[in-house]
Amino acid sequence: MIITVVGARPNFVKAAPIHNAFRAAGVQHEICNTGQHYDALMSKVFFEDLGMPKPIVDLGVGSGTHAEQTAAAMIGLERFFSQKPPRAVLVVGDVNSTLAAAIVAAKMGLFSAHVEAGLRSRDWSMPEEVNRVVTDTIVDLLLTPSADADDNLRNEGHSADSIVRVGNVMIDALQQHLPAARKLGMPSRLGLKPREYSVMTLHRPANVDDPAVLGGILDAVADIAKTLPVVFPVHPRTRTKAAASGLDLERTNRLIPIDPLGYLEFLSLTSDARLVLTDSGGLQEETTVLGIPCLTLRDNTERPSTITHGTNVLVGSNPEAIRREAQRALNRPIDSSHRVPELWDGRAAGRIVKAVLARI
Ligand code: UD1
Repeated sequence: MIITVVGARPNFVKAAPIHNAFRAAGVQHEICNTGQHYDALMSKVFFEDLGMPKPIVDLGVGSGTHAEQTAAAMIGLERFFSQKPPRAVLVVGDVNSTLAAAIVAAKMGLFSAHVEAGLRSRDWSMPEEVNRVVTDTIVDLLLTPSADADDNLRNEGHSADSIVRVGNVMIDALQQHLPAARKLGMPSRLGLKPREYSVMTLHRPANVDDPAVLGGILDAVADIAKTLPVVFPVHPRTRTKAAASGLDLERTNRLIPIDPLGYLEFLSLTSDARLVLTDSGGLQEETTVLGIPCLTLRDNTERPSTITHGTNVLVGSNPEAIRREAQRALNRPIDSSHRVPELWDGRAAGRIVKAVLARI
């Protein structure tokens, strides 16, 4: 049996095509969910939208400090792997569950592979950067999405035969589900017309934990909303932080905070947006493939190919910069001839299966 470990929302999107590709190759593959994300809107809806089977186990880890969350996932995973050791453990992305699974697999001597290896922001204040670097140091097989990731790993001294560029598996999911997503017509459900609204997501601690930073971003976005309504599916972390500091998410009726959306609803919304503002990693990639202008509210990105080959612009969290870059993006016509990075072609999962099976 081969296991892919998932825990948080972006992991589910990456695991679904991998599961299908292993099954299509006749290999027994199961999903193990740590339960880092547990609200139905952050977890269950994604399993349903992506057509994923019930996880073989749900460890119910939930929220906590980094140490609590990582440790709880490690304890649960070690117990689970001990019962029937898998032939291989796949970990995806850069969340605390990714790190926990990589450490447990390494210490138990299980073959492990990291999907999305090699991404680096070089920003050590991000918990994800710690997770990425430690995970890549201890897994057996490094499956990368892009050439910059290969370069990062080689520069860190990883041997060439441990690195396989497979492309971006999130794009497999996007291509597979885009037709169904479009049928949902999310813009019109919200009373909006295609290309006449923007979408924002925010959840990074650096943007939402400090009320001064979050308040500044919301002020800037409220101004942008005067030109273009902003739909804002609010991550639970952001909702909690805004409420704790008395920040009003509904400061204008053109800034539209809504509950987190499922995968298909969100894809329906973003695929017809005029502009996306985000601090998410996956959304930088999805907008690149969809050809939608994306302003990333961070000072750095571990996904530079979305800038060099895609629609992404790094803006940071300075309110003036956000206003200025949004205006600049809206003044540019949408480029229908946009490029995408090599191997972001919807066939990454097949290459992942091939690379793993060749090694075990
Ligand atoms: C986590 C990942 C981040 C990823 C993000 C995607 C880490 C370190 N962070 O961040 O890399 O981009 O997921 O969403 O692994 N909460 C709920 N319900 C839930 C889940 C979380 O209410 O189902 C709230 C809780 O208050 C929790 C907080 O969100 O304390 C943060 O959740 P956590 O899983 O620690 O990190 P995220 O910010 O979601």
